[in-house]
Amino acid sequence: MTVSSAPGKVYLFGEHAVVYGEPAVPCAIERRATVSVEARDDDHVRVEASDLSLDGFTVEYAGATDGRPDVDVPASLVEAAMGYVDAAVEQAREAVDRPDAGFDISVESSIPLGAGLGSSAAVTVAGIDAATRELGHELPVRELANRAYRAEAAVQDGQASRADTFCSALGGAVRVEGDDCRAIEAPNLPLVVGFDGGAGDTGELVAGVRALKAEYDFAADTVSTIGNLVRTGEQILDPENEAEGSLAELGRLMNFNHGLLASLGVSSRSLDSMVWAAREAGAHGAKLTGAGGGGCIVALDPTPETLTALQFTPGCEEAFRAELATDGVRREA
Ligand code: PMV
Repeated sequence: MTVSSAPGKVYLFGEHAVVYGEPAVPCAIERRATVSVEARDDDHVRVEASDLSLDGFTVEYAGATDGRPDVDVPASLVEAAMGYVDAAVEQAREAVDRPDAGFDISVESSIPLGAGLGSSAAVTVAGIDAATRELGHELPVRELANRAYRAEAAVQDGQASRADTFCSALGGAVRVEGDDCRAIEAPNLPLVVGFDGGAGDTGELVAGVRALKAEYDFAADTVSTIGNLVRTGEQILDPENEAEGSLAELGRLMNFNHGLLASLGVSSRSLDSMVWAAREAGAHGAKLTGAGGGGCIVALDPTPETLTALQFTPGCEEAFRAELATDGVRREA
């Protein structure tokens, strides 16, 4: 059996705008998806997902494109999870030129699904890595990131940036602008995450921004303003420029970024109320992270105040401090 894990992430800046070629800075966090893979001697794929939902499920099918089996959990959950596992299996088969390889796969994840913390990217990265290693091939990390991107793009009808998958494969903070992906140095920021227990539909939210942008010049300007904001933010993040007050400035930019995202229609009542709870508790700044619509916010606060405030905020189901994950994909066994 071969086991790989990969981290989730938060966006410090730049989600949505990154889809249109603007830069974004995601940052890997210590919440991981772990995928265990065992090769089979037929071409079937059996997937057991224990932590993706409270229920968990097991499905077995022959080939990646066969019909979905009957399972007693919400269809949307199975579809979401299986879509990424299918796409990861396809990429692994292609990478090692074994189109009929079969696998027993088990997924365990402490990253809430569809909540803006990059759960699908982490499962895809860890899945491709474990499946290819199980067949005797160790992919270089950049190739792994590239294949994970192609898997995500296939599931999301081409509407994906390289940001999530690159960040999950490499770990740390990264900067992504179109096809240009690089690791950047960033201080270990005092990140606090609030989760409303819900999820947004990434495809739908991306399509909504695309439609607004096509209809109104000022929406297109908002997207390029986010790009400018990211360029300012990355200068402040650069440890060489680190100065007194830089946390406060980063926070201010996060607040600004949240406002721009809200104007593009991707925030929600619960995300806004967590953002405001964090600000009122004294956080330097707070914004939604990922596609939005529901899910998580990220705030910057070195004191315990934001964490405590979020724990008492109606609509916030879980709040935790997020440590920067310096490791990306980790070869566990
Ligand atoms: O919610 P997540 O973690 O899937 O992040 C989506 C980020 C977007 O910029 C909206 C889409 C993308 O592929 O970059």
